[in-house]
Amino acid sequence: MQHAPAETPERKAFYAKIDKDNLAPLWAVLSDLITPEPRSACRPALWRFDTIRAAMLEAGALITAKEAERRVLVLENPGMRGLSQITTSLYAGVQLVLPGEVAPAHRHSQSALRFVLEGKGAHTSVNGERTLMAPGDFVITPYMAWHDHGNHSDAPMFWLDGLDVPLIAALDASFVERLGADEQPIGKPLGDSSARFGVNLLPVDYKGGPPTSPIFNYPYDRTREALAQLEKAGPLDACHAIKMRYTNPATGDHAMPTMGTFIQLLPKGFTSARYRATDATVFAAIEGRGRTRIGEQVFEWGPKDIFVVPSWKPVVHEAEEESVLFSFSDRPVQEKIGVWREDRGNA
Ligand SMILES: [Fe+2]
Repeated sequence: MQHAPAETPERKAFYAKIDKDNLAPLWAVLSDLITPEPRSACRPALWRFDTIRAAMLEAGALITAKEAERRVLVLENPGMRGLSQITTSLYAGVQLVLPGEVAPAHRHSQSALRFVLEGKGAHTSVNGERTLMAPGDFVITPYMAWHDHGNHSDAPMFWLDGLDVPLIAALDASFVERLGADEQPIGKPLGDSSARFGVNLLPVDYKGGPPTSPIFNYPYDRTREALAQLEKAGPLDACHAIKMRYTNPATGDHAMPTMGTFIQLLPKGFTSARYRATDATVFAAIEGRGRTRIGEQVFEWGPKDIFVVPSWKPVVHEAEEESVLFSFSDRPVQEKIGVWREDRGNA
Protein backbone atom coordinates (compact mmCIF):
# COMPACT_ATOMS: atom_id res chain seq x y z
CA MET A 1 0.00 0.00 0.00
CA GLN A 2 1.40 3.38 -1.04
CA HIS A 3 1.49 5.94 1.76
CA ALA A 4 1.30 9.70 1.48
CA PRO A 5 4.69 11.45 1.46
CA ALA A 6 5.84 12.76 4.86
CA GLU A 7 4.59 16.14 6.05
CA THR A 8 7.76 18.24 6.54
CA PRO A 9 7.44 21.70 8.18
CA GLU A 10 8.17 23.32 4.79
CA ARG A 11 5.48 21.28 3.08
CA LYS A 12 2.93 22.02 5.82
CA ALA A 13 3.68 25.73 5.52
CA PHE A 14 3.22 25.49 1.76
CA TYR A 15 -0.12 23.66 2.11
CA ALA A 16 -1.31 26.35 4.54
CA LYS A 17 -0.25 29.10 2.13
CA ILE A 18 -2.09 27.67 -0.89
CA ASP A 19 -5.13 26.64 1.18
CA LYS A 20 -6.62 30.17 1.10
CA ASP A 21 -6.67 29.97 -2.71
CA ASN A 22 -8.69 26.71 -2.56
CA LEU A 23 -5.72 24.65 -3.65
CA ALA A 24 -4.52 21.39 -2.13
CA PRO A 25 -1.70 18.91 -2.86
CA LEU A 26 -2.86 15.73 -4.57
CA TRP A 27 0.13 13.74 -3.28
CA ALA A 28 -1.20 14.07 0.30
CA VAL A 29 -4.47 12.32 -0.59
CA LEU A 30 -3.72 10.27 -3.70
CA SER A 31 -3.52 6.91 -1.94
CA ASP A 32 -6.98 7.46 -0.42
CA LEU A 33 -8.51 8.54 -3.73
CA ILE A 34 -7.20 5.82 -5.98
CA THR A 35 -7.16 2.60 -4.01
CA PRO A 36 -5.89 -0.83 -5.09
CA GLU A 37 -9.31 -2.32 -4.26
CA PRO A 38 -12.73 -0.87 -3.38
CA ARG A 39 -12.45 0.66 0.10
CA SER A 40 -15.96 1.39 1.30
CA ALA A 41 -17.51 2.66 4.49
CA CYS A 42 -20.41 0.33 3.66
CA ARG A 43 -20.52 -2.60 6.10
CA PRO A 44 -22.27 -5.98 5.92
CA ALA A 45 -25.53 -5.83 7.88
CA LEU A 46 -28.84 -7.62 8.33
CA TRP A 47 -32.25 -6.31 9.40
CA ARG A 48 -34.76 -8.81 10.81
CA PHE A 49 -38.24 -8.29 9.45
CA ASP A 50 -39.78 -8.91 12.90
CA THR A 51 -37.82 -5.96 14.29
CA ILE A 52 -38.70 -3.71 11.35
CA ARG A 53 -42.36 -4.77 11.47
CA ALA A 54 -42.75 -4.00 15.17
CA ALA A 55 -41.09 -0.59 14.76
CA MET A 56 -43.22 0.17 11.71
CA LEU A 57 -46.47 -0.62 13.52
CA GLU A 58 -45.32 1.72 16.29
CA ALA A 59 -44.61 4.36 13.64
CA GLY A 60 -48.07 3.68 12.23
CA ALA A 61 -49.58 4.89 15.50
CA LEU A 62 -47.38 8.01 15.55
CA ILE A 63 -47.83 9.41 12.03
CA THR A 64 -50.19 8.81 9.11
CA ALA A 65 -48.89 7.88 5.67
CA LYS A 66 -50.38 11.15 4.39
CA GLU A 67 -48.65 13.38 6.94
CA ALA A 68 -45.35 11.53 6.50
CA GLU A 69 -45.81 11.67 2.68
CA ARG A 70 -44.09 8.27 2.80
CA ARG A 71 -44.12 6.36 6.09
CA VAL A 72 -40.81 4.62 5.76
CA LEU A 73 -38.11 3.46 8.12
CA VAL A 74 -34.76 3.86 6.41
CA LEU A 75 -32.35 0.93 6.52
CA GLU A 76 -29.18 2.80 7.41
CA ASN A 77 -25.91 1.09 6.82
CA PRO A 78 -24.10 0.88 10.19
CA GLY A 79 -20.94 2.22 8.57
CA MET A 80 -22.74 5.27 7.13
CA ARG A 81 -25.26 6.31 9.80
CA GLY A 82 -27.15 9.55 9.21
CA LEU A 83 -26.72 9.47 5.43
CA SER A 84 -29.88 7.48 4.52
CA GLN A 85 -27.73 5.03 2.58
CA ILE A 86 -27.69 1.26 2.60
CA THR A 87 -24.77 1.27 0.17
CA THR A 88 -22.68 4.13 -1.14
CA SER A 89 -24.98 4.54 -4.16
CA LEU A 90 -28.33 3.19 -2.94
CA TYR A 91 -31.07 3.93 -0.47
CA ALA A 92 -33.38 1.31 1.06
CA GLY A 93 -36.31 1.53 3.42
CA VAL A 94 -39.40 -0.38 4.47
CA GLN A 95 -42.72 1.30 3.85
CA LEU A 96 -46.01 0.70 5.67
CA VAL A 97 -49.44 1.59 4.31
CA LEU A 98 -52.26 0.79 6.73
CA PRO A 99 -55.80 -0.14 5.61
CA GLY A 100 -57.63 2.93 4.31
CA GLU A 101 -54.47 5.04 3.98
CA VAL A 102 -52.96 6.77 0.97
CA ALA A 103 -49.40 7.91 0.31
CA PRO A 104 -50.09 10.98 -1.85
CA ALA A 105 -49.08 11.40 -5.50
CA HIS A 106 -45.66 12.81 -6.30
CA ARG A 107 -42.88 12.29 -8.80
CA HIS A 108 -39.12 12.68 -8.67
CA SER A 109 -35.93 12.16 -10.59
CA GLN A 110 -34.96 9.23 -8.35
CA SER A 111 -36.07 5.85 -9.71
CA ALA A 112 -37.75 3.57 -7.19
CA LEU A 113 -38.39 -0.13 -6.86
CA ARG A 114 -40.76 -1.87 -4.47
CA PHE A 115 -40.47 -5.46 -3.39
CA VAL A 116 -43.57 -6.56 -1.51
CA LEU A 117 -42.88 -8.26 1.83
CA GLU A 118 -46.29 -8.64 3.48
CA GLY A 119 -49.91 -7.91 2.64
CA LYS A 120 -52.04 -8.32 -0.43
CA GLY A 121 -54.28 -5.99 -2.37
CA ALA A 122 -52.78 -2.57 -1.68
CA HIS A 123 -52.05 -0.68 -4.87
CA THR A 124 -49.44 1.52 -6.49
CA SER A 125 -50.48 3.80 -9.32
CA VAL A 126 -47.92 4.84 -11.90
CA ASN A 127 -48.60 7.23 -14.78
CA GLY A 128 -52.38 6.75 -14.73
CA GLU A 129 -52.42 2.99 -14.19
CA ARG A 130 -52.99 1.08 -10.99
CA THR A 131 -51.50 -2.26 -10.01
CA LEU A 132 -52.48 -4.46 -7.08
CA MET A 133 -49.57 -5.85 -5.12
CA ALA A 134 -48.89 -9.22 -3.48
CA PRO A 135 -45.87 -10.65 -1.62
CA GLY A 136 -42.84 -11.10 -3.87
CA ASP A 137 -44.10 -8.70 -6.54
CA PHE A 138 -41.47 -6.34 -7.95
CA VAL A 139 -42.96 -2.96 -8.81
CA ILE A 140 -41.23 -0.03 -10.54
CA THR A 141 -41.83 3.69 -10.32
CA PRO A 142 -39.60 5.16 -13.04
CA TYR A 143 -37.78 8.48 -13.26
CA MET A 144 -40.27 11.40 -12.97
CA ALA A 145 -43.34 9.12 -13.09
CA TRP A 146 -46.31 10.18 -10.98
CA HIS A 147 -46.92 7.61 -8.28
CA ASP A 148 -49.12 7.12 -5.24
CA HIS A 149 -49.92 4.19 -3.00
CA GLY A 150 -53.18 3.19 -1.31
CA ASN A 151 -54.44 0.30 0.75
CA HIS A 152 -58.06 -0.78 0.30
CA SER A 153 -57.37 -4.17 1.87
CA ASP A 154 -58.02 -4.97 5.52
CA ALA A 155 -54.41 -5.67 6.53
CA PRO A 156 -51.23 -3.60 6.79
CA MET A 157 -49.00 -3.71 3.72
CA PHE A 158 -45.20 -3.68 3.98
CA TRP A 159 -42.72 -3.43 1.18
CA LEU A 160 -39.04 -2.82 0.63
CA ASP A 161 -38.27 0.43 -1.18
CA GLY A 162 -35.02 0.75 -3.13
CA LEU A 163 -34.02 4.07 -4.68
CA ASP A 164 -30.97 5.54 -6.37
CA VAL A 165 -31.07 8.56 -4.02
CA PRO A 166 -27.32 8.73 -3.20
CA LEU A 167 -26.43 8.31 -6.87
CA ILE A 168 -28.75 11.13 -7.97
CA ALA A 169 -27.44 13.26 -5.08
CA ALA A 170 -23.85 12.69 -6.26
CA LEU A 171 -24.92 13.92 -9.70
CA ASP A 172 -26.85 16.89 -8.24
CA ALA A 173 -29.87 15.95 -10.34
CA SER A 174 -32.66 15.81 -7.76
CA PHE A 175 -36.12 17.19 -8.58
CA VAL A 176 -39.46 16.45 -6.94
CA GLU A 177 -43.01 17.63 -7.69
CA ARG A 178 -46.17 17.06 -5.70
CA LEU A 179 -49.45 16.62 -7.54
CA GLY A 180 -51.46 18.30 -4.79
CA ALA A 181 -53.93 15.41 -4.74
CA ASP A 182 -53.91 12.17 -2.79
CA GLU A 183 -54.36 10.04 -5.87
CA GLN A 184 -53.64 10.66 -9.53
CA PRO A 185 -56.44 10.16 -12.07
CA ILE A 186 -56.54 6.58 -13.39
CA GLY A 187 -56.99 6.39 -17.17
CA LYS A 188 -56.08 2.77 -17.87
CA PRO A 189 -57.61 -0.54 -16.76
CA LEU A 190 -55.83 -2.91 -14.37
CA GLY A 191 -53.31 -5.09 -16.20
CA ASP A 192 -52.90 -2.75 -19.19
CA SER A 193 -49.09 -2.54 -19.32
CA SER A 194 -48.78 -6.19 -18.41
CA ALA A 195 -50.93 -7.12 -21.45
CA ARG A 196 -49.07 -4.73 -23.78
CA PHE A 197 -45.53 -5.53 -22.67
CA GLY A 198 -45.52 -8.47 -20.25
CA VAL A 199 -46.37 -11.50 -22.42
CA ASN A 200 -43.55 -11.48 -24.99
CA LEU A 201 -45.54 -9.16 -27.25
CA LEU A 202 -45.05 -5.47 -28.03
CA PRO A 203 -47.48 -3.07 -29.70
CA VAL A 204 -46.76 -3.36 -33.43
CA ASP A 205 -45.39 0.16 -33.88
CA TYR A 206 -43.69 0.43 -30.49
CA LYS A 207 -40.43 2.25 -30.99
CA GLY A 208 -39.18 2.06 -27.43
CA GLY A 209 -39.39 4.75 -24.86
CA PRO A 210 -37.59 5.82 -21.74
CA PRO A 211 -34.86 3.48 -20.46
CA THR A 212 -37.11 2.04 -17.72
CA SER A 213 -39.19 -1.04 -18.48
CA PRO A 214 -42.80 -0.30 -19.52
CA ILE A 215 -43.89 -3.20 -17.28
CA PHE A 216 -44.24 -1.85 -13.79
CA ASN A 217 -45.32 -4.95 -11.90
CA TYR A 218 -43.49 -8.25 -12.26
CA PRO A 219 -45.84 -10.55 -10.31
CA TYR A 220 -44.27 -13.14 -8.04
CA ASP A 221 -46.51 -16.03 -9.05
CA ARG A 222 -45.13 -15.95 -12.60
CA THR A 223 -41.56 -15.39 -11.45
CA ARG A 224 -41.82 -18.25 -8.96
CA GLU A 225 -43.18 -20.61 -11.60
CA ALA A 226 -40.20 -19.88 -13.82
CA LEU A 227 -37.75 -20.47 -10.96
CA ALA A 228 -39.38 -23.83 -10.15
CA GLN A 229 -39.13 -24.87 -13.80
CA LEU A 230 -35.48 -23.80 -14.01
CA GLU A 231 -34.59 -25.64 -10.83
CA LYS A 232 -35.94 -28.84 -12.35
CA ALA A 233 -34.12 -28.24 -15.63
CA GLY A 234 -30.76 -27.14 -14.14
CA PRO A 235 -27.85 -26.76 -14.32
CA LEU A 236 -27.17 -24.82 -11.14
CA ASP A 237 -24.61 -22.04 -11.30
CA ALA A 238 -21.91 -22.69 -8.67
CA CYS A 239 -22.08 -19.11 -7.36
CA HIS A 240 -25.75 -18.24 -7.82
CA ALA A 241 -27.71 -21.53 -8.23
CA ILE A 242 -30.59 -20.16 -10.33
CA LYS A 243 -30.34 -16.38 -10.72
CA MET A 244 -32.32 -14.32 -13.19
CA ARG A 245 -32.44 -10.59 -13.85
CA TYR A 246 -35.60 -8.59 -14.38
CA THR A 247 -35.49 -7.05 -17.85
CA ASN A 248 -37.01 -4.33 -19.97
CA PRO A 249 -38.81 -6.37 -22.69
CA ALA A 250 -38.30 -3.62 -25.27
CA THR A 251 -34.51 -3.65 -24.99
CA GLY A 252 -33.43 -6.77 -23.10
CA ASP A 253 -31.47 -4.48 -20.79
CA HIS A 254 -32.00 -4.25 -17.02
CA ALA A 255 -35.56 -3.28 -16.07
CA MET A 256 -34.29 -0.02 -14.57
CA PRO A 257 -31.38 2.12 -15.82
CA THR A 258 -29.74 2.72 -12.44
CA MET A 259 -30.66 -0.37 -10.44
CA GLY A 260 -30.24 -4.00 -11.44
CA THR A 261 -32.90 -6.27 -9.95
CA PHE A 262 -32.53 -10.00 -9.57
CA ILE A 263 -34.41 -13.06 -8.33
CA GLN A 264 -32.60 -16.17 -7.26
CA LEU A 265 -33.53 -19.65 -6.12
CA LEU A 266 -31.23 -21.63 -3.84
CA PRO A 267 -32.23 -25.31 -3.58
CA LYS A 268 -32.39 -26.88 -0.11
CA GLY A 269 -28.86 -27.76 1.04
CA PHE A 270 -27.14 -25.65 -1.65
CA THR A 271 -23.87 -23.94 -0.67
CA SER A 272 -22.64 -21.37 -3.15
CA ALA A 273 -19.04 -20.99 -4.28
CA ARG A 274 -17.25 -17.89 -2.96
CA TYR A 275 -18.17 -14.89 -5.08
CA ARG A 276 -17.54 -11.17 -5.06
CA ALA A 277 -18.46 -8.29 -7.34
CA THR A 278 -18.09 -4.52 -7.36
CA ASP A 279 -21.82 -3.87 -7.07
CA ALA A 280 -22.76 -3.70 -3.39
CA THR A 281 -26.03 -5.62 -3.22
CA VAL A 282 -29.16 -5.51 -1.08
CA PHE A 283 -30.89 -8.89 -0.59
CA ALA A 284 -34.39 -9.65 0.65
CA ALA A 285 -35.37 -13.25 1.36
CA ILE A 286 -38.93 -13.93 0.31
CA GLU A 287 -38.99 -17.66 1.05
CA GLY A 288 -36.83 -20.13 2.90
CA ARG A 289 -34.11 -19.97 5.48
CA GLY A 290 -30.35 -20.01 5.43
CA ARG A 291 -27.19 -18.14 6.20
CA THR A 292 -24.82 -15.93 4.26
CA ARG A 293 -21.16 -15.44 5.05
CA ILE A 294 -20.04 -11.94 4.04
CA GLY A 295 -16.29 -11.55 4.55
CA GLU A 296 -15.77 -12.93 8.06
CA GLN A 297 -19.33 -12.36 9.28
CA VAL A 298 -22.21 -14.84 9.14
CA PHE A 299 -25.82 -13.69 8.95
CA GLU A 300 -28.74 -16.06 9.51
CA TRP A 301 -31.83 -15.12 7.54
CA GLY A 302 -35.43 -16.19 7.17
CA PRO A 303 -38.44 -14.91 5.24
CA LYS A 304 -38.54 -11.12 4.70
CA ASP A 305 -35.18 -10.45 6.36
CA ILE A 306 -33.00 -7.97 4.49
CA PHE A 307 -29.21 -7.90 4.28
CA VAL A 308 -26.53 -5.97 2.44
CA VAL A 309 -23.29 -7.15 0.88
CA PRO A 310 -20.71 -4.37 0.34
CA SER A 311 -18.69 -4.05 -2.85
CA TRP A 312 -16.00 -6.71 -3.34
CA LYS A 313 -16.74 -8.56 -0.07
CA PRO A 314 -16.69 -12.34 -0.60
CA VAL A 315 -20.11 -13.95 -0.25
CA VAL A 316 -21.16 -17.55 0.41
CA HIS A 317 -24.84 -18.47 0.68
CA GLU A 318 -26.05 -21.64 2.39
CA ALA A 319 -29.69 -22.60 2.01
CA GLU A 320 -31.13 -24.63 4.86
CA GLU A 321 -34.47 -24.79 3.03
CA GLU A 322 -35.33 -24.06 -0.57
CA SER A 323 -35.00 -20.29 -0.63
CA VAL A 324 -35.79 -17.37 -2.91
CA LEU A 325 -33.78 -14.16 -2.68
CA PHE A 326 -34.62 -10.87 -4.37
CA SER A 327 -31.69 -8.49 -4.76
CA PHE A 328 -30.78 -5.14 -6.24
CA SER A 329 -27.61 -3.17 -6.90
CA ASP A 330 -26.16 -0.41 -9.09
CA ARG A 331 -24.79 -2.98 -11.56
CA PRO A 332 -26.42 -1.36 -14.68
CA VAL A 333 -24.55 1.88 -13.99
CA GLN A 334 -21.25 0.09 -13.45
CA GLU A 335 -21.79 -1.95 -16.63
CA LYS A 336 -22.57 1.15 -18.69
CA ILE A 337 -19.35 2.87 -17.65
CA GLY A 338 -17.34 -0.34 -17.92
CA VAL A 339 -16.20 -0.69 -14.31
CA TRP A 340 -18.30 -3.66 -13.16
CA ARG A 341 -16.08 -6.52 -12.11
CA GLU A 342 -16.74 -9.93 -10.59
CA ASP A 343 -14.54 -12.64 -9.11
CA ARG A 344 -16.01 -16.13 -9.19
CA GLY A 345 -13.27 -17.60 -7.02
CA ASN A 346 -12.60 -21.11 -8.24
CA ALA A 347 -16.14 -21.64 -9.48
FE1 LIG B 1 -41.77 8.53 -4.39
